[in-house]
Amino acid sequence: TAIPRVLSGIQPTADSFHLGNYLGALRQWVALQNSHQAFYCVVDLHAITVEHDPETLRRRTRVAAAQLLAMGLDPERATVFVQSQVPEHAELAWILGCITGFGEAGRMTQFKDKSSKQGTAGTTVGLFTYPILQAADILLYTPAPGPGERVFHVPVGEDQRQHLELTRTLAQRFNHRFGETFVPPEAYIPEAAAKITDLQEPTAKMSKSASSPQGIIDVLEEPGPMRKKIMRAVTDTGTDVRFDEENKAGIANLLRIYSALEGVPIADLERRYEGSGYGQFKKDLAALVLDTFTPIRERTLKLLADQEQLDRVLAEGAARAGAVARGTMEVVRDRVGF
Ligand code: ADP
Ligand code: NA
Repeated sequence: TAIPRVLSGIQPTADSFHLGNYLGALRQWVALQNSHQAFYCVVDLHAITVEHDPETLRRRTRVAAAQLLAMGLDPERATVFVQSQVPEHAELAWILGCITGFGEAGRMTQFKDKSSKQGTAGTTVGLFTYPILQAADILLYTPAPGPGERVFHVPVGEDQRQHLELTRTLAQRFNHRFGETFVPPEAYIPEAAAKITDLQEPTAKMSKSASSPQGIIDVLEEPGPMRKKIMRAVTDTGTDVRFDEENKAGIANLLRIYSALEGVPIADLERRYEGSGYGQFKKDLAALVLDTFTPIRERTLKLLADQEQLDRVLAEGAARAGAVARGTMEVVRDRVGF
């Protein structure tokens, strides 16, 4: 029986991934490589939908890829690649754009959010068509329909649901117009994927764009500052380490992080810290975060020290992804009439 495929991408838009990215997405990527045929890409084409600096993009693309490998993605098991190195992504996006309604694309709420922040002058057509490129990213790797239908999972967060719905619509529309080509992908929203909030504003999402430096924990951060941030995380005036999202959002967030990193239920942690106050709890959490990220940081720096080797790994990933993508495009081009 065929192994299900999984495809996911992440933007190289920061000098480090953060704790939210790790617990909400990247840790699942690593787990899925064992049960799935996995394709993971650093989506640099998506990163230029807002104004960017070329050297910064080049650096961040490498740092992003190095972190993925350092977190445990094994290039022997998972295909790790850079999106722009597989030109079929852009080609399929064009074709899908030509079967997408203007109004349909205009209904994407993420575009409405982002464009309202950018203002009219800063909003590009690329930002508008972003979900169509995302559809292409996914559909290039859908298996050919046939006997023993393979389930196709795309790990997405809640905020990506609408884009995945568009992807499914476009797959079905293409199939309807031009013949069975794509298997509409299914969402995979891992239950365990914790929503991590800002350490200083614990009701807001931890985010590279919205969080202050004190509110966000970067995977590549130095141990000293990392520990300090956790010790200084906003809590409440109480002393009980108890999960209460409404009245104790800060402690609830720290409990979520602790539980996800150690793999123990929150109730166990509440019992463990009964009567011990916030200080000891934070200290132990800081040690746990450091234990998780220090080896990742060290491996990342090592990978970045040998650029040639890193580029070789990425070129191999792009070659493997490209072989699949070209196979899909051969069919697509023929169906469309090229
Ligand atoms: P950011 O919100 O910092 O801009 P992205 O939007 O690039 O991060 O998200 C990349 C991945 O990380 C997505 O799968 C997203 O769901 C996940 N993610 C981002 N922030 C968090 C968070 N605070 N908690 C859980 N998952 C998150
Ligand atoms: Na975001």
